[in-house]
Amino acid sequence: MDLKVIDKFAKEMILEAGKRIRSAFSYDIIIETKANPNDLVTNIDRETETFFINHIKATYPTHKILGEEGMGERVDSLEGPVWIIDPIDGTMNFIKQHRHFMITIGFFVDGVGKLGYIYDVMRGDLFHAIHGEGAWYNNTPLSKLEPLNLEEAVIGINATWVAPNKKVNHEKIIDLVKKVRGTRSYGSAAMEIAFVVSGKLDAYISMRLSPWDIGGGTVIAQEVGAIASNLKGQPCNLLSQDTFIIANPFIYEQILTDYIEEK
Ligand code: IPD
Ligand code: CA
Ligand code: CA
Ligand code: CA
Repeated sequence: MDLKVIDKFAKEMILEAGKRIRSAFSYDIIIETKANPNDLVTNIDRETETFFINHIKATYPTHKILGEEGMGERVDSLEGPVWIIDPIDGTMNFIKQHRHFMITIGFFVDGVGKLGYIYDVMRGDLFHAIHGEGAWYNNTPLSKLEPLNLEEAVIGINATWVAPNKKVNHEKIIDLVKKVRGTRSYGSAAMEIAFVVSGKLDAYISMRLSPWDIGGGTVIAQEVGAIASNLKGQPCNLLSQDTFIIANPFIYEQILTDYIEEK
């Protein structure tokens, strides 16, 4: 399997999908809800996923595809070549802000991340990686993440963490928020992951993410030395929802040990 060939194929496909999404703003976007009134999906999420599936199947008919909107087949094992796709990560941003949403894709072979992409559709910025060969922000190589102290860190965290919740001891999260230099919340997990791998954020934590939110990002993370896991410190599960942390390796352990107490 020639990864360079698949990488070229994937990049062209992502850029084409981005063009289609940008042009969608000139016609009607149909908004629906899924699991709850704040869980939004649009015709563009579904059409983009279908575009990816058709495109991949036409060239690589045996590859499996796991997508958020379930437009493809059911995938319950990571055996063989598997594409994990979020056609629009940050659908609420897509609808309300017309920016700050990503296409993110990971390509795995027997569970090993080989190619990873996070594409900021409105900025036209692509974060990408090839397993063992490095990671890039557009054409610029991304460096290994550098040492820093937690006091200097800027972390991505959702506001719900600091309110009492069923998942973690929120008092400790308040301590973390006080300890770090600053916090941010962007509304697209893939965007926050892209920021961590490029040193624009130093960590990002989430109480619940799905494989398609993190698949592409975990491949990029490995190439720059960022550590990604669930909040128990176990490897990310790419077949079901789980908690999530990605961090600069110099603060990862400290955040998990001193500030995350799962209930
Ligand atoms: C969502 C975004 C959001 C995160 C949610 C995800 P979607 O993805 O990444 O930032 O907090 O958990 O579901 O639904 O917009 O693709
Ligand atoms: Ca969604
Ligand atoms: Ca998502
Ligand atoms: Ca999505």
